[in-house]
Amino acid sequence: MNGTVLVTGGAGYIGSHTVRRLLRNGYQVAVFDNLSKGHRWAVPDNVPLIVGDVADVAHVAMTIRQLHVTSVIHFAAFSLVGESMIEPRSYYANNVAGTMHLLDGMRVAGVDRIVFSSSAAVYGEPASVPIEEDSTLAPTSVYGRTKMVIEGMLHDYAVAYGLRFVSLRYFNAAGADPQGDNGEDHDPETHLIPLVLQAAAGRRPSVSVYGNDYPTADGTCVRDYIHVNDLADAHILALESLEGHMEATYNLGNGEGFSVKQIIETAQRVAGCDIPVVQAPRRAGDPAVLVASNVRARTELGWIPQFTDLEDIVRTAWNWELHRSAC
Ligand code: UFG
Repeated sequence: MNGTVLVTGGAGYIGSHTVRRLLRNGYQVAVFDNLSKGHRWAVPDNVPLIVGDVADVAHVAMTIRQLHVTSVIHFAAFSLVGESMIEPRSYYANNVAGTMHLLDGMRVAGVDRIVFSSSAAVYGEPASVPIEEDSTLAPTSVYGRTKMVIEGMLHDYAVAYGLRFVSLRYFNAAGADPQGDNGEDHDPETHLIPLVLQAAAGRRPSVSVYGNDYPTADGTCVRDYIHVNDLADAHILALESLEGHMEATYNLGNGEGFSVKQIIETAQRVAGCDIPVVQAPRRAGDPAVLVASNVRARTELGWIPQFTDLEDIVRTAWNWELHRSAC
């Protein structure tokens, strides 16, 4: 595809991994990020970094024109479920209004292709697993609702204005680039795998297990962990699929669930040490089991996740943790 791919939120965890995969695939890339969550170091030196906010329509439109942007991959968003319940306004402003303004900037500058970061959070507590894309959308968090609203907005814009889009519903993004120079770095960190590994590395005293009375085999929550580079590859396939159709939605997961206890056991094997665990109450809003059906992404996009072994995923995250600790 000719032209530049503009990656909003390209200094963040999934965005910066996608930037590297785009470069490897020969794409011209630019990052648009306000650095509120992302890191300058996560953007490769040879990629232009435009520090700006997606809500700034004029800045988005000028960037698109100056850099000859022909498509957008949109990661920029707030993504903490708990925070979204306390600060709903900032989630609607940043995620929903931010995306609306980004779309304005794209329309002003004549760009009509976007790949959007959605989330399994749009499903809420699923009626059955594995979850298919046509399952009921019943988000249990403000965060999930913002993603659902944006998906609806994209559809309406496709119908009315001819926008072409793909929404990608991520399950649990995990792992790090095996090259070792990029990985997960949130502040605050709330995700299970980095927290477990930080406890293994002695950077935290212990890890808390939120709830042991869920209706699962060992009583702890089950999630579908998908390697960040596999997610990144799906974005490139989604971008390329926009040649052929107007709109589509795909789940991105491995299609296999692992419990919190299984994650901790795997991390102990990978790190080669015991990890101190503290039993804690359930975390509000956590569904018991979230596992994707990835059949649609496999058949329609030709997406084949490469990291199908949990231990391999955790090992890449551990190598990143060691690299970070050494820095
Ligand atoms: N967990 C713990 N201890 C911790 C952190 C997490 O036991 O210290 C548990 C959680 O209760 C959950 C599992 O580990 O059962 C995974 O938790 P994460 O916070 O790593 O991920 P979530 O499944 O809560 O969240 C992910 C994405 C969100 C998205 C959500 C959809 O990170 O962006 O899936 O439900 F909204």
